[in-house]
Amino acid sequence: MNDTTHRPADRQAALRARLGGIGLGADYNPDQWPEATRTEDLALMARAGVTVVNLAIFAGARVEPARDAYDFTYFDRVMDDLAAHGITADLATMTAAPPPWLVTEHPEVLPVTADGVVLSPGGRRHFCPSSPVFRDRAARLVEAVATHYRDHPALGLWHVGNEYGCHVAECFCDTSAADFRRWLGERYNSVDALNDAWSTDFWSQRYASFDQILPPRTAPTYPNPSQQLDFKRFGNDALRTCFETETAILRRITPDVPVTTNFLAGLKSVDIYDWAPTMDVLSLDSYPDPNRDQAHIGAAMSYDTIRCAGGGEPWLLTEQAPSAVNWRSRNAAKSPGRTRLWSWQAVAQGADVIMYFQWRPSRGGAEKFHSRMVPHAGPDTRVFRDVADLGRELARVPELVGTRIHNRVALLSDWHSRWALELDSHPSDAVRHSDRALDHYAPLFDLGVGVDVVHPSADLSDYRLVIVPSLYLLSTEHADRLSRFVAGGGSLVVSFFSGIVDECDRVHLGGYPGPLREVLGISVEEFRPADAGVVFPLQGVSGSGDAPPTGTGDLRREDVTLKGARAEVEFAGAEWAGRPAATVHTHGAGIARYIATRPDTAAMRGLIARACADAGVEPVLPVLPRGVQASIRTGDGYDVLVLLDHADHADHADEVELPTPRRDLLADGQPTTRRVTLAPQAVAVLGSHPTEPAPTTTPESA
Ligand code: GLA
Repeated sequence: MNDTTHRPADRQAALRARLGGIGLGADYNPDQWPEATRTEDLALMARAGVTVVNLAIFAGARVEPARDAYDFTYFDRVMDDLAAHGITADLATMTAAPPPWLVTEHPEVLPVTADGVVLSPGGRRHFCPSSPVFRDRAARLVEAVATHYRDHPALGLWHVGNEYGCHVAECFCDTSAADFRRWLGERYNSVDALNDAWSTDFWSQRYASFDQILPPRTAPTYPNPSQQLDFKRFGNDALRTCFETETAILRRITPDVPVTTNFLAGLKSVDIYDWAPTMDVLSLDSYPDPNRDQAHIGAAMSYDTIRCAGGGEPWLLTEQAPSAVNWRSRNAAKSPGRTRLWSWQAVAQGADVIMYFQWRPSRGGAEKFHSRMVPHAGPDTRVFRDVADLGRELARVPELVGTRIHNRVALLSDWHSRWALELDSHPSDAVRHSDRALDHYAPLFDLGVGVDVVHPSADLSDYRLVIVPSLYLLSTEHADRLSRFVAGGGSLVVSFFSGIVDECDRVHLGGYPGPLREVLGISVEEFRPADAGVVFPLQGVSGSGDAPPTGTGDLRREDVTLKGARAEVEFAGAEWAGRPAATVHTHGAGIARYIATRPDTAAMRGLIARACADAGVEPVLPVLPRGVQASIRTGDGYDVLVLLDHADHADHADEVELPTPRRDLLADGQPTTRRVTLAPQAVAVLGSHPTEPAPTTTPESA
């Protein structure tokens, strides 16, 4: 961002100095309770070690109950109380739910679906991101809030909007249509360029002027895919413009206060890599389903994504559930120990702040059954005791603050490819971006190998292994970077349906995967998706190293022709016997692999392990029991190893051998042996040597 007042390092340092350690907190909605409850809240926050709260996220209607009638009296008392108790406010701009007066006066701010349905107020996020009225009213509110609280001692961070793209990702109203046309004009300059990019000679869609273009509203059949893709880009940009409009006001009024907004893990509509440079510190809301096997691995992938989007800087876990959520069809409670384990997991993967949704649940309203730090039953509850214990633990490891993680494996991820991959009219609708990324991430996680999840434009020079999991949309430029990475000695793993189309969703010609054929030494003629439940036997090719992976594949079986590569795994069975299922190719000083199906878990792990071995990539620890996650955060002259036992087996503990002795930071730095015993769901936090330097941050006003 070209902003001379943008000094993220200073602002990050200011936040660290305020918090004085790993932060703990929650969404705090005191306005949903009688004023007297706050006294108890503040006492309990002290007991739990709360240092930061997300404040006033949905307080717009209280602060501006009528047009321009700002009333800060209530939140003045709250902010004063927070300051008096040394708690930092991540103060919201209050723009995530337009107040009733605004939609009454201006119903045109309401969003419209692709089917033409106007979404009513009564929930939240009921605004069209392109609405000039909404943007103007939001800007005025932010100006008023920032001006009012600019010098308040509790203010430590701005929380802009809330979970952009959640509920309403895009709006199809006439205002959005006009804004979309403006956006297209800037992107393409001429309608001829747009016609070319959108392949509009197909189905008589050629436009004579931008005025003829609409959003991809519900049509008799597939709307133009390039139009759909551009509308996703436009939707992302429209939301980012809302965010940036607010941020610009905050930067002008409070140049020293860092700015963030909370991304929702796994959300499709908002491109975190695109937004990240406009933020001082990145924040993520994460709600892995306790009922889902291996949910922590999906969470791990999102933590590696947010950290890398922020250039490796520590990030904030702004929301997680202390126990159950209220928005799944069946909302599982977390088993004892899991809240602690999953909180530490975020810390292990680079978070410096751990927060919950929410502090105390309201008595009424749609989220009354969502879990909270202080349940309806009060503080004499397991959940409150657990989170309070966690607060005490987090306070013991200030040396973790500001430390970073260094990985040698990059997994490429790109929202534009995700949007394009998941459009209609494809060979199969069963190939989903996040699933495919996880198919590659999970074996690395199981092998104990740390991963960075980065955009294809990222600097790859520090990586030894790059994984490309069904990255359907890949520009020639990004494909060339991958070829150069391999030629220079890197290892590459590419999975089926990667490098198929360019930025406009037009096929790279000459055989799939167009710009990656040379580096991979293959060409693909047909995709051959499989029906659900159909599996293909796989046979490792003898002579291709020790224990070539065998097993089965499913989902896809591509017709691969070898053009310099050799098969490492072949399809077996009558019809396809001997056809390549996984290939390996030497290109320059490096090695490029292609996987033409979805191998089962063991076979995939075998292939990924081979790629790691070729690349000289080591796990974080030489030997790790299954289910134990290890991560190292490195500071100035020291590091901290975090071990997390995700195993569900209640019958035995896991033993972990350390290469060198470490101090147990949760047990007041007692020396450990080189052997750590981990019960199921246990956490160990181990410093590298007995004399770590004192942390650089100091508690300000605890
Ligand atoms: C999101 C929102 C919160 C709350 C939680 C519930 O993350 O940001 O306001 O609704 O979901 O899980």
